[in-house]
Formats: sequence, C-alpha cells, structure tokens
Amino acid sequence: TRPLKVGIAGLGTVGASVIRILERRNETVTQRGGRSVEVMAVSARDKAKDRGIDLSPFTWFDDPVDLARSADVDCVVELVGGADGAAFEVVQTALSHGRHVVTANKALLAKHGLALAKLAESKGVSISFEASVAGGIPIIKTLREALPGNEVSRLYGILNGTCNYILSRMELEGLTFQECLKDAQRLGYAEADPTFDVEGFDTAHKLAILTSLAFGTEIDAEAIYVEGISSITPLDLAMAKELGFRIKLLGVAERTDTGIEQRVHPTMVPRTSSIAQVMGVTNAVTIDADAVRELTLIGPGAGGDATASAVVADIADLAAGVAQPLFGKPVDQLEKAPRAPMQRH
Ligand code: NDP
Ligand code: HSE
Repeated sequence: TRPLKVGIAGLGTVGASVIRILERRNETVTQRGGRSVEVMAVSARDKAKDRGIDLSPFTWFDDPVDLARSADVDCVVELVGGADGAAFEVVQTALSHGRHVVTANKALLAKHGLALAKLAESKGVSISFEASVAGGIPIIKTLREALPGNEVSRLYGILNGTCNYILSRMELEGLTFQECLKDAQRLGYAEADPTFDVEGFDTAHKLAILTSLAFGTEIDAEAIYVEGISSITPLDLAMAKELGFRIKLLGVAERTDTGIEQRVHPTMVPRTSSIAQVMGVTNAVTIDADAVRELTLIGPGAGGDATASAVVADIADLAAGVAQPLFGKPVDQLEKAPRAPMQRH
C-alpha cells in the first residue's frame, strides 16, 4: 500500500519530537493501519538552527504555506502555533488543496474551528487535533469515541501545564512566579507568548474545544469567563493551605437550566481531593456523565514528547483510515448552545 506522505510545518518543541518519535516507532504505526508513514517535507523559520535531528532526508520549505500546497503530501501537520498568521494560512491552504490536517493548535481551533471544519467537510478531508488539549492525555478520543452511551452534564479540569507547574513550585518550593515561569519556558511547556498560559486564555481555548465535543455544540470561546493566575501571590497559597485548600486553575463547563456555562478561574480545592494531588506539568480532566458517572484522565499536559505522542496518534489514525469528523458529527448538526449566565460559585 502507498505510504501516507506527511509534511510537518513547525519544528520547535513539538515538531522536532514528532520527527524523533516517528523515526523510532514507524513500524508500530505502520502495523496498526497496514500503511506506513513517510515524512516528506518540513518547514520552519530558520533552516540553519540545530534541532538535534537530521533534516537531510526531507524537502525543506522556507514558507510553510508552500509545504501545505505541495502535491507531495497527503497530510499536513501544523505545529507553528497562533490563531492567525502562518498557522491559519497553512491549515486553510492544506484543506483547500485536499490535504488532511493534524494540528496541536488550540488557539486556532477555538477561533476558526467551525469554519475550518466546514472547509474540511467540503473537501472530504479531516482535521485531527488530539494534541490540542491536555498534551498526552487522549481526551479528544475519549469524548468523541468512548462515550456515545452518555449524556455529559459537566466537565472540568486542569488544562494548562504551565500554570499548574507554576502554582505547584510556588507552593512546594517557595519560588517566585517569575522563576517558575522561566523554567516552564525553558522546558518547552509555555506558549510562545506566555500571557496565553498565565492569563487563562490557553485553558479557555482548550475548554471551548472540549465543551463542543462533550455537549455537541458549536465552539463558543467568546462565552467563557476567563481569569488567570498572574495575580496569585505566595500569601494566597499560604492562606489556602492554612484553610485546608490548594489553588488550581480550572476550566469548567456545565449544563445548567439556562444553557452551557463555561468558565476559567483559580479555584480553591480541598487538599484531600484528588484534583489537589495533580501537581507540576500534569493535567487532569473529569467528565461527569449519566452512564459512566465520573471519569478522570490524568497525564502530562505539555512538553515535546508527551504532545508529540498525541500528534503521532492522529497520524496513525489517518494512516489506518479511521480519522473522525472534527467535532464528532457534521458541522450542520452541531447545536448553537444558549450561553448560561455566570453563576457565583
Ligand atoms: P515552538 O515555538 O517551539 O515551535 C514553533 C515552530 O514553528 C518553530 O519551529 C518555528 O520555527 C516555526 N515557525 C514559527 N513561525 C513560523 C512562520 N511564520 N513560518 C514558518 N515557521 C514558523 O512551539 P511548540 O512546538 O511549543 O508548539 C507548537 C504548537 O503546539 C502550538 O500551537 C502550541 O500551542 C501547541 N502545543 C504545544 C505544546 C507544548 O508543550 N509545547 C503542548 C500542546 C500543544 P523556528 O524553529 O525556525 O523558529
Ligand atoms: N502551554 C500549554 C500548557 C501547552 O502549558 O499547557 C500545552 O497545551
């Protein structure tokens, strides 16, 4: 069978890890679908940068949009980042040219997901995005494929590794906010603009995607109340501890009598609760649903290899021919959910 030919746009923390994992796991990926995966082309800003990988087998594109329209690829993996600009152009161009897309870009999906899903549908191709929420945790697969027998009433969780890493180290090691953020950036956890992490926007982007999948509704990122962790002080953490709590940045989506409520804010959680035990870059997502009752997934929320693990899973699905519609059903079947007013909690 003809290999699935892949082009990778963006060779940073995640892109470089994807190449490394595909190199060492290609056999397993192939065995799954009976079709091998071949990276044909790559693109980034700086061709001369040492990425610790041999790029000589691949065709280099200075402009990732040229890669996206290249006839040599069946699937474009977008790992550039950002809701607009190059990332948007890459994905739009790839879909317009009938190429499948795999992306880790939650900012892009939260803003343009619906339009891109429509475009993909009209071209008979797919957009896969397991890596866009909660890094290595297979939360998209779980919501889309594992729970058809359930009506979800609520989902909540720690969806940003950088914030959880900062809050954990501030509390446990007494480090400053800035010291922890610097380390999160050095380790490749933070967004190119870390404001997205610490002000809660990244959590909101992820929550918007999960809400759509959990409730079968159109993405509505604008409806989310967002508050980040930048004003949390060591004194806040100490006071919370004194009272028997820990502070976590949570994303919460809940079906209420008036509609779907979505919110992101620092939350005091009892120190004995399971979510309080989730520390460092780890993420956790809990789904409350009628049949399964309560389901929690915990795992690495950011970092090159953990995120690349999810990207490779999407590529393997494509090679096996089992890619799913973006939101689990055709776009015109998504409900427009009424926005519930924010409750006091
Ligand atoms: P990086 O900043 O490490 O990598 C971005 C890559 O894109 C770099 O290789 C850069 O080139 C390239 N690039 C940026 N702008 C352009 C452009 N205009 N034209 C061509 N290439 C460009 O980001 P990450 O790998 O961390 O993140 C990639 C995506 O994955 C983002 O959407 C992010 O939100 C998402 N993500 C990241 C996670 C993580 O833990 N890091 C986890 C989950 C999702 P160059 O290297 O030459 O500068
Ligand atoms: N910056 C993000 C985080 C990357 O820290 O969670 C994973 O999406």
